[in-house]
Amino acid sequence: MKKLIVIAAGVLVAAGAVQVQAADLEAGKAKYQVCMSCHGPEGKGQAIFPGIAGQDADYIAGKLNQYRAGEQVGPNTALMAPHAAALSDDDIANVSAYIASEFK
Ligand code: HEC
Repeated sequence: MKKLIVIAAGVLVAAGAVQVQAADLEAGKAKYQVCMSCHGPEGKGQAIFPGIAGQDADYIAGKLNQYRAGEQVGPNTALMAPHAAALSDDDIANVSAYIASEFK
């Protein structure tokens, strides 16, 4: 339970950061190069890789925080978690803002 509260706090902090700071879209774009191999150049997804286009930055940042925290999110979390583990808070804010602004 304590762990859940810590995770929830982290998600809130990251989501707040996305709104308050002006996210760096160029840095987010650079980070997205890795994500593209699974989620596609326009975030539409393919096969077992979910589409992430059309989501807002808070949603994406929240998911990335869950994966980074080691939470089981969906059936294929094991494929996604290593890619979130390497992201800093700034990386999450930037890549989330990039996805939300570029892929409608
Ligand atoms: C090796 C392929 C792969 C790479 C690379 C990858 N992902 Fe994922 N991603 C997945 C899979 C598979 C899922 C679904 C996992 C699950 O079932 O929980 C997922 C889920 C997600 C979700 C949640 C979607 C939803 O609506 O539930 C987001 C957001 C996301 N990825 C963003 C990213 C970002 C940003 C990057 C780059 C930093 C990235 N992914 C790199 C495979 C990948």
